[in-house]
Amino acid sequence: MERVSSYTRGMTVLKIARMGHPVLLERCRPVADPGAPEIRRLVRDMIETMEDAPGAGLAAPQVHVPLRLFVFRVQPQRSTGAPDDTVIGNTVVINPVVEPLGEERQLRWEGCLSIPGLRAAVPRFLRVRYTGVDCDGRPVTAAVSGFHAGVVQHEYDHLDGILYPMRLTDFSQMGFNDEIARAEELALRLDAIRTEWAGASSRS
Ligand code: NI
Repeated sequence: MERVSSYTRGMTVLKIARMGHPVLLERCRPVADPGAPEIRRLVRDMIETMEDAPGAGLAAPQVHVPLRLFVFRVQPQRSTGAPDDTVIGNTVVINPVVEPLGEERQLRWEGCLSIPGLRAAVPRFLRVRYTGVDCDGRPVTAAVSGFHAGVVQHEYDHLDGILYPMRLTDFSQMGFNDEIARAEELALRLDAIRTEWAGASSRS
C-alpha cells in the first residue's frame, strides 16, 4: 500500500505564465484521456501551484499546458453564502462546457495569477451551468452563482485564450491591488469622519 505524505512525494509548484506569454492566447485542445497518468500528475501539480500562489483558480495554459482543464476552489471568505455558491474544496473540471443561465450580468472584482498585482471589475453572467469530467471520468456539473460562477467563467475563458482585461468595457475600474486597498481604506476613514461630524453638528 502506498502511503506517503505530500512532503516525501515532493511538492511540485509549477511556473505560472504571465500576460504576454503566447500560451495564454492559445485555444486549448481537449484532453483525450482524463485518467492518463500525466493528466493526474498535472492536476495534482496545478492544485499545489494554486494553493502555493495562493489563488482561487488555475487553468492549464497558465502552467504552459494548452489543454482544456482547470482547477478551482471556493474558500469561506469568497463564498457569498447563497445555496449555489457554498464553500467547496479543490475541484478539477476537464473538457468543460460553461453556459450562462439567463442574460443577467454583474461586475465582479477579479485578479489573475498571470497578471500579478492587478485587479478589475469584470462583467460576468450572474449564473452559469458547467459540465465536465474529473480524472476518473465522473461527471462534474453544477448550476452556480456568486463567486463560484465568476471563477468558473474566468478559468473557462483561459481555455479560449481570453484574459480578463479582454472582457473589460470600463478601464476606470482596473488598478493595482495595493492602490485599490488604500483607496478603500481612505473612503472608510472619510466615512467615519463624516459620521463623527454629523454627530457633532446634531449635538450643537
Ligand atoms: Ni486567470
